[in-house]
Amino acid sequence: RKRLTITAMKKMKQERNAISVVTAYDYPSAKLAEEAGIDVILVGDSLGNVVLGYDTTIPVTIDDIVYHTRAVARGAQHTFIVADMPFMTYGIGRESTLRNAAKIMQEGGAQAVKLEGGADIAEDVAALVKAGIPVMGHIGLTPQSVHQLGGYKVQGKLDQEAERLLQDAKALEEAGAFSIVLELVTEPLATLISESLSIPVIGIGAGRGCDGQVLVYHDILQYASPYFEKKFVKTYADIGSTIRHAIESYVADVKTGAFPGEEHSFQAQAKPAAVDSL
Ligand code: KIV
Ligand code: NA
Repeated sequence: RKRLTITAMKKMKQERNAISVVTAYDYPSAKLAEEAGIDVILVGDSLGNVVLGYDTTIPVTIDDIVYHTRAVARGAQHTFIVADMPFMTYGIGRESTLRNAAKIMQEGGAQAVKLEGGADIAEDVAALVKAGIPVMGHIGLTPQSVHQLGGYKVQGKLDQEAERLLQDAKALEEAGAFSIVLELVTEPLATLISESLSIPVIGIGAGRGCDGQVLVYHDILQYASPYFEKKFVKTYADIGSTIRHAIESYVADVKTGAFPGEEHSFQAQAKPAAVDSL
């Protein structure tokens, strides 16, 4: 199968062919997502929450992202991979921003980067695009700004806020972003933004009117994620219980001696010389 391109994604929007995106953070998750036919994999900085156990995405470093992106790239060699630029690795001067994005692509092996922010980072986006780096925007609830936003709440409920989000989306498109993520935005506003842009809008907690959807791997699988009970998440499996039960059975087998059995054991014919001297 062939890796999707940003042109193909734009065409999918025109043809109302929904784009499916899931996060992945390592070789097995990426391999399974690719085998399942996912369109795009996002190495989200949500790995800070669901893989590294932090409360927010703020502690995630560029090295964390590069390390996880490399594993994902090995697991999904035919899937378009977007990787998040972590907190404070962009918007801190043009040269640093470019170098950090380049690192994610060259060392990590991503095909594109994602940045949080709207009009305020549009110049950075334009510079990255000019340098040949495909950029995905991310507006609405932007977790790297959680302390500034005052919590994880739905964005765009007030007229003024909604107007700003629409302007941010347009600014990102004008700056050359190939797509944007809209997180935790009311359905009417997300639909309006999707209809106002020619680039694909990927929603998470943004309702039915977007051009595609993204969810976090650990959330949809109930894989030790603290977030799978969120309203906007649909769970498709209970991997957490499956794993816990499997390990409980293993522990019990070790305690009772049911494992290892004869079939797991190697019967040596040879007798060590030392045995004779016992
Ligand atoms: O880090 C992440 O997983 C994300 C998605 C939720 C869009 O940014
Ligand atoms: Na993210």
